[in-house]
Amino acid sequence: TEDILILALESSCDETAASVNLNGTEVLSNVVSSQVKLHQKFGGVVPEIASRKHLELILPVIDQALVEAGVEFSDLDAVAATYGPGLVGGLLVGLTAAKTIALALKIPLIGVNHIAGHIYANFIANPDIEKPLICLTVSGGHTDLLYFASRRGYKILGSTQDDAAGEAFDKISRFMGLGYPGGPAIEKAAQSGDPSAVDFPRADLGDSFNFSFSGLKTAVMNYINNQQQKGNLVNKADLAASFQAAVIDSLSSNLMAAVKKYNAKSIVLSGGVAANQQLRKSISKQTTELGLKLYYPPLDLCTDNAAMIGAVAYYQYLEKDFAELSLSADPALKL
Ligand code: KG4
Ligand code: ZN
Repeated sequence: TEDILILALESSCDETAASVNLNGTEVLSNVVSSQVKLHQKFGGVVPEIASRKHLELILPVIDQALVEAGVEFSDLDAVAATYGPGLVGGLLVGLTAAKTIALALKIPLIGVNHIAGHIYANFIANPDIEKPLICLTVSGGHTDLLYFASRRGYKILGSTQDDAAGEAFDKISRFMGLGYPGGPAIEKAAQSGDPSAVDFPRADLGDSFNFSFSGLKTAVMNYINNQQQKGNLVNKADLAASFQAAVIDSLSSNLMAAVKKYNAKSIVLSGGVAANQQLRKSISKQTTELGLKLYYPPLDLCTDNAAMIGAVAYYQYLEKDFAELSLSADPALKL
């Protein structure tokens, strides 16, 4: 079969990223320019600042991705970009750059769903993960539990009814004054804390496989406010550990229930929250007990990057799933 070279772009949140891949799984370059430092002083991503920064960075990042891969524009077989979900200003920057390249080079444009990208990050190192598989994808914007009978045939088993798991980490971190992004900050603070110090609620949504984190968020905030009113010092390490344990319990109990119900052969984790070591440890332990295989991407492919977008794009290329140049960014795009 012929070799397919794809340039993929990702700009849906606060990372400007470009990657060149060969046949989906061979990542020749994976350039990520993070704006985290820029947004830190505001305690979260400021959309207007993000889009301006994407505009500044997108061309240098593309150039660097081509140079590191040792290829030229004229070598490319297709160009891909995330077209949703995400912040519209950022999405438009990457998508417009991709359209321009597609038009100038007369190569196909491929529009990629960001959430699919997080899942396919797993197929870069392991293209043949045994099915059926259950995938937990947990990020700043989404929390979904999916069932895959085949690589392209999936079904959503459950989603969050309110906050995404990463969003809960970010909001609680901000409330506790631990900074942004919240996930790594809480994880660090939790290292020296006791996860059973405070017994926070785990939402139970029956047999639905859905998630909910807003009740937990409120419980943590109420706890902090109550302690402060009583003049008690709040132990941040214990609080962070107890909150983190509640999130991990909610995620893993739903995941393991789905794994058992659907007789899954493999379990796949994806998205920024899958970078959490305690989450990995807890699920890994339960997976081993069941004799199943657990997969999660390396850390740099967990958080936003363009290699994962290229991985989806390759399979879309094989199916000739190309986009028109009129493709719009879709901030609320669903899987
Ligand atoms: O996938 P991602 O980079 O961007 C989105 O698509 O949202 O995920 C970012 C989210 C943030 O909410 C961040 O706090 C969370 O992932 N995150 C973590 C960790 N690292 C990043 N959450 C928990 N533990 C971590 N170590
Ligand atoms: Zn993401």
